[in-house]
Amino acid sequence: MEYGRFDDANREYIITRPDTPLPWINYLGCQAYFGIISNTAGGYSFYRDARLRRISRYRYNNAPYDLGGRYIYLRDEDSREFWSPSWQPVQRELEGYVCRHGMGYTIIGSTYKGVEAQTKYFVPLDEDLEIWQVAVTNRRKTPVKLSAFSCIEFCLWDAQDDATNFQRNFSIGQVEIEDGVIYHKTEYRERRNHFAYFACSEPLAGFDTQRDVFLGPYRGWDRPAAVERGESFQSVAHGWAPIGSHHVRLSLAPGETKQIVFVLGYQENPNDDKFDPPGSQIVNKKRAKPVIAKYLKPASVDAAFQALRTYWDGLLGICQVETPDVHTNRMVNIWNAYQCMATFNMSRSASFYESGVGRGLGFRDSNQDLLGFVHMVPPRARERIIDLAATQLPTGGAYHQYQPLTKRGNNDVGGNFNDDPHWLIVGVAAYLKETGDWSILDEPVPYDNEPGSEQPLYEHLQRSFRYTLERLGPHGLPLIGRADWNDCLNLNCFSDTPGQSFQTTTNKEGKVAESVFIAGLFVLAAKELAAIAQRRGLAEEAAHYLAEGARMEETVRRHGWDGEWFLRAYDDFGAKVGSRECEEGKIFIETQGFCALAGIGLNDGRAAQALESVRKHLATPHGIVLQQPAYSRYHLNLGEISSYPPGYKENAGIFCHNNPWVIIAETMLGNGDAAHDYYARINPSAREQISDLHRCEPYVYAQMIAGRDAPTHGEAKNSWLTGTAAWNYYAITQWILGIRPALDGLEISPCVPKAWPGFKATRKYRGVTYHISVTRAGEGNRVALSVDGARVSGTIVTPPADGRTEVFVQATLS
Ligand code: GLC
Ligand code: GLC
Repeated sequence: MEYGRFDDANREYIITRPDTPLPWINYLGCQAYFGIISNTAGGYSFYRDARLRRISRYRYNNAPYDLGGRYIYLRDEDSREFWSPSWQPVQRELEGYVCRHGMGYTIIGSTYKGVEAQTKYFVPLDEDLEIWQVAVTNRRKTPVKLSAFSCIEFCLWDAQDDATNFQRNFSIGQVEIEDGVIYHKTEYRERRNHFAYFACSEPLAGFDTQRDVFLGPYRGWDRPAAVERGESFQSVAHGWAPIGSHHVRLSLAPGETKQIVFVLGYQENPNDDKFDPPGSQIVNKKRAKPVIAKYLKPASVDAAFQALRTYWDGLLGICQVETPDVHTNRMVNIWNAYQCMATFNMSRSASFYESGVGRGLGFRDSNQDLLGFVHMVPPRARERIIDLAATQLPTGGAYHQYQPLTKRGNNDVGGNFNDDPHWLIVGVAAYLKETGDWSILDEPVPYDNEPGSEQPLYEHLQRSFRYTLERLGPHGLPLIGRADWNDCLNLNCFSDTPGQSFQTTTNKEGKVAESVFIAGLFVLAAKELAAIAQRRGLAEEAAHYLAEGARMEETVRRHGWDGEWFLRAYDDFGAKVGSRECEEGKIFIETQGFCALAGIGLNDGRAAQALESVRKHLATPHGIVLQQPAYSRYHLNLGEISSYPPGYKENAGIFCHNNPWVIIAETMLGNGDAAHDYYARINPSAREQISDLHRCEPYVYAQMIAGRDAPTHGEAKNSWLTGTAAWNYYAITQWILGIRPALDGLEISPCVPKAWPGFKATRKYRGVTYHISVTRAGEGNRVALSVDGARVSGTIVTPPADGRTEVFVQATLS
């Protein structure tokens, strides 16, 4: 069953019924002001930090799931009937309900008894506000009189405190109402210098700012008292729950359309200019008022919307492909790239599954996310790298997370995830390959944000590398610390107390448990770092990295190979994890994919055999599961991984993030058919027709699809904010399609299915547009390149020396 369809020409997903299996969401904003919005207008907004600057309130895990949002109510003054054009929260049966999720905007509309209403929600570029542009049309043959009510519930800024500290919070809410604009100013009188505002373009018939007055006692959002009676109460919030609601009356002749624009925004004032007049307690609105006035004009709104579209045309235009597979094209050209930008902006903080209060920006996560967005926003990628590196510890280790508002390492979680430092090397290498901006390596960056500790970024990479060499275990493999890529493989945790965090509890010394995964990552990092050192003229240092990498490869061959696949780890007792000797969890995906993509075993048959074992033991029609057999009981020595019921999350779920490692490994062995087949199994667009089973949005990846041990095999969960976005984008564009930035130029080395006659692509790279045409002349992956008609040897196209900005590349596969 399908709940909508793709409109690729407009880059939209069109949802045609509101009762999707789960809320299907989109993101508003791409710089500092952000929101999530569902297909029924649910969701919330925040400024920069989803926890510390939450603008509107949202209650997670509600019933129904998604309640609370950017709601409009309409009321027919004659019949007294009222409804929500976005279906929720009134849930009246509507005609022609349509939600169009596009690039940075969402449009929701429907018709009820001849009254059509459509709302466009978006955040203009360079502004800290969102627009709700409502158009109401009378499709009846007779005139109609309507009341329209807007409604937003304000959050008292710190979303964590807001949801817990009611003894205080019920007494602090404050608003001002001036010229029909509702200003939310809780805590402004003392330590805050920011407020929110909610404005309306039309003359008001009334307003409300106290939730319980607007709704009435014992009523929910589905039948607010003000809407039911057709008149606001003019309530002024003192404590309790401040809201913003405007009431507008409309008369529409047959066929007539009227627009109402609502603007919800965030404003900061300098500390010494907070009040107007000075010395009073009245919010100084002089910075907010001109912005409000501008965006209440429909012409400014339309111009801002056009600018937003142009912005996305620019970002997505950097890499466009035309292959024989519609799902590949759609994901590469539109949705996967778009999701990569969402993970850049949000990391893992705010989605329908990430509450915005729990996690900041992950060190590991954000570095990997770079693989998916660096080509679209190189200067911002540079800034992200510097921010991440500034949270690195002097030991070379890293805080596992940092808070976006303060950019400081998060002490609650701390460090000692021993894979973390290497992701910085991977991230910086991706940046250099894309941009050729070697100056980043000389940028002075502090450790742990400590002023005075600045060293060139390059030294941070050196320390990352050394960090592992100083932490090798009994077999010479890297010690795992609290966890490696798999946050749930907690070999030093030994937690037997409910409520303990598996990620931050450490009951063992940590001097025995080793990770074969980190070994693979180390081998990859060694190669990347050696190539960087070589180009900095540090030949000896480069040789050292390569030698250490080779030594680690040898260690993996000796102590990390189980006969038919790579081992996963050694636990605190020195016992194997991910071995045929184990009763459960005999084989894991991570080391098969990652060791192979790092180049381990490519020449001695081990990589090929490991991938064969993946096919035999881990592959399902819905993707590749994380391990088998699933853990059926809790293993104290393994931690959180064995706490999930079989088939979910890291316990044998299809953890989509690591499927691309196998995909990339398959391309390294020249298996284009296998690579694309695995790619298609988890491609959300290719799963659209099984939306009833998949349940999550068909336009973005989810972190997990339930594995074969789960009763719900094939059901996705945790969409949007996942490393899956970047890794799949990287796998399809750089390894299957083979358009791969390298340190010296753009490499073209596709490994596509045998049945593909070829494909076309345009890729903007270091200021040059490459028009790439690939044709198949034989079944293999041997590449013959000609550039602007001239044959070149090898697979790398170097930037034109003569300043040309358009280059035509013809690749023939045989
Ligand atoms: C989550 C985390 C990521 C981790 C993965 C596997 O996606 O964000 O850091 O690698 O789970 O545990
Ligand atoms: C939980 C999740 C895992 C995530 C981790 C982050 O353990 O299962 O996916 O990486 O939290 O701390």
